[in-house]
Amino acid sequence: MSLVLDSDRDLIRTDVRSWLASQEKKELLRFITCGSVDDGKSTLIGRLLYESKQIFEDQLDALESDSKRHGTQGEGIDFALLVDGLSAEREQGITIDVAYRFFASARRKFIVADTPGHEQYTRNMVTGASTADLAVLLVDARKGILTQTRRHSYLAQLVGIRRLVLAVNKMDLVDHDQGAFDAICADYRLFASSIGADSWVAIPVSGLNGDNVIAKSENMPWYDGPSLLEHLDTVALDSDADAQKPFRLPVQWVNRPNQNFRGFAGEIAAGSIAPGTQVRILPSGRTTTVDRVVTMDGDRDHAVAGESITLTFTDEVDCSRGDVIAAAAEPPEVADQFEATIVWMAEDELIPGRGYWLKLGTQLVTATVQHPKYEINVNTLEHLAAPSLALNSIGVAEISTDREITFEPYAVEGSAPNRALGGFILIDKLTNATVACGMLHFALRRALNIHRQHLDVSRDIHARIKGQKPAVLWFTGLSGAGKSTIANLVEKQLVARGRHTFLLDGDNVRHGLNKDLGFVEADRIENIRRVGEVARLMADAGLIVLTAFISPFRAERDMVRAMLPDGEFIEIYVDTPLAEAEKRDVKGLYAKARAGELANFTGIDSPYEAPENAEIRVNTVELSAEQAADRIVDWLLKRS
Ligand code: ADX
Repeated sequence: MSLVLDSDRDLIRTDVRSWLASQEKKELLRFITCGSVDDGKSTLIGRLLYESKQIFEDQLDALESDSKRHGTQGEGIDFALLVDGLSAEREQGITIDVAYRFFASARRKFIVADTPGHEQYTRNMVTGASTADLAVLLVDARKGILTQTRRHSYLAQLVGIRRLVLAVNKMDLVDHDQGAFDAICADYRLFASSIGADSWVAIPVSGLNGDNVIAKSENMPWYDGPSLLEHLDTVALDSDADAQKPFRLPVQWVNRPNQNFRGFAGEIAAGSIAPGTQVRILPSGRTTTVDRVVTMDGDRDHAVAGESITLTFTDEVDCSRGDVIAAAAEPPEVADQFEATIVWMAEDELIPGRGYWLKLGTQLVTATVQHPKYEINVNTLEHLAAPSLALNSIGVAEISTDREITFEPYAVEGSAPNRALGGFILIDKLTNATVACGMLHFALRRALNIHRQHLDVSRDIHARIKGQKPAVLWFTGLSGAGKSTIANLVEKQLVARGRHTFLLDGDNVRHGLNKDLGFVEADRIENIRRVGEVARLMADAGLIVLTAFISPFRAERDMVRAMLPDGEFIEIYVDTPLAEAEKRDVKGLYAKARAGELANFTGIDSPYEAPENAEIRVNTVELSAEQAADRIVDWLLKRS
C-alpha cells in the first residue's frame, strides 16, 4: 500500500532519497482498533486510510465500482469494502490472523492492527494488541458501552496498552447530541476506573460522514478536543518511555565475522547505551564495559531503545544468544518459577504438567504450567475455578522453567509494559504451534531458597564401582503389548551377566509411589514424570534401569530422555498392534473397556503416540518374548 501524501509527491519526483529518509525519521505509532463491523469500525478505518490518501489509484477505482455494486451507501463510497475485503480470508484462517494496515500523516507513520470483535477472536485481539501503544475502542453512539467494549478495554489493559481512545461513532445517528456523548463518557469513566485504566480520551465521530476523523467537525461545535487523527498524531509514545528505562539488550546472535571482531547483536529493548558504560550479562551476572556501539551505519556514541545494534566489550566474556546485557547497577531478575497470566490460543487445551517450549525474547526453555489458580471471565472479570485453559480463555497460573531465565514483570504501574522481558509465548513441542501467550507477574522465591548440595560420591564413582555404564531401558507400548514380560526376561539376562539392574513396572509403581494417580491425561503425565525422576536417580546410582509403562505420549518420553545424559536413554518400542493386544487381553481389560466399564483406556478411548525414533523396536507378532529379549540384549552388548 502506498505511503504517499499529496505534499510528498513533488519531493518523490525530484529527490526520492530525501523523501525516503524523511519517512524513516517519522515516529511510529502502533495501534489496534476494537469493535465489530456493526460499530462502523471498517468504515472508520477505511476513511482514515482514504483521507490520508493511502490508497493506490487502482484500488480507488475498484472501490468506487464495488461501492456501486455491493455497497450500502448508494452512489457514495462504501469505505467498509476497503477493509472487509480481508475478512472472509480471515474467518477461514486456521492461523491467528490479524490484518495490519499502514498509513502516514505528515508527522507519524501508523500501523493499525484490525482484529475482529467477537469473543471467539480473543486470541486475535491479544495478538494484535501485544505490540500496540494505543487502542481505539469503537462504540455505537446509539448503543453506548457494551459488554464487548468492556472486554476489549480489559484485554487492552491486560497486554499493557495504557492509552485508550473511545471513538463514539455514528454521532450523525443521534443528531450530534452532546448529551448522548456525555452519558457514554460518564458510563465508561466508572468502568475504566474499576480496571485501573486511567489514561483514556473519548472522541465523538462519524466514520460515515468523516466528522472528527481527520478534521474537526462543524456538526459538533460543543466538542473542543482533537480529531481522531490529531490525537493519534500527538499522543505520547511508549518508545519514548522505553528509552528512559534501565538498559536491556536481549542478545540475538554473536557477530563474529573474523578473528578480530566479536560483537553481541540485538535490538535494544529499553534504555540507552554508550561506549564506556558498565554492563552486566545475565543470567551469569558477569560485569564488563562496553567498548564499541556498532550499527549498520558504523560506530555510534549513543543508541536507544528500538535500535538494532552490536556491542563489543573491553574484555573477553562469555555471552551468547538468549543472554541479556543490562545496566550493571540495575539488572533484571533471574528466576525459574513464576506467576503469570496466560491467554490460551490453541484448540487443544492446556495440559498442566506437560513440557512446552517457552520463548521469552531470545530465550528458549522448557516450561511446565501448574493447574490454573483461576480463570478470568473476560466479560464480567470474575475469577472462576478452572482445571485447565481452553481456546480463548485467560487464566493465572504458576509456571516453572527447566533453566533460569532473565525477566522483568510485564506490567509496571504507571509505565510502559516490559514486553521484551515480561511477555512470552508457549509452543507445543511436537507440532511447533504457538499455543499461548502470557505475561509474567513475579518470580516465586521457593526455588531460590533451595540450593543444590554438592556430593563427593559422584554418579561416575557409583557407575565405576558397579563396573558398568548406567542406562535407562524405557519400554513403551500398548497395555498387553508384552512390555513387562520382555523387560523381565531382559533383566534376568543382564543379572546373569553380573549387571546391576532394577525394573520399575507400571502396575507395581501404581500400587505405591503413584497410587494417587489415575488414567486421565494429566495423571499419566505425572506418572511418567515421577517414574522419570526415579529412573534418573537410579541411573545416578549407577544402575541399569528398566521401565515398563505404557507411557503413551511422545512429549513425556522425550522429557525423560532430556533428563538423562546423551545416550543413556534407550527407548524400546514394544510394537504390538491394537488388534493383537486386544485378542490376547491377558488382564481382561480390553473387554471391559469395550463394554464401557473402563474409561480412558489406551488404544480405545485414549491415544497412544508410537515412538518415531526408538533405539530398538520389537514386533511381538513376529517374535516371541524370548526372541525379543535376545534382540534387546544383543543390541546392548554391541553398544557396550
Ligand atoms: S501410563 O499410561 O500411565 O504409562 P501405566 O503403564 O502406568 O500407564 O499403567 C498401565 C496399566 O494400568 C495397564 O497395563 C493396565 O493394567 C492398567 N490400566 C487400568 N486402567 C487403564 C486405562 N484406562 N488405560 C490403560 N491402562 C490401564
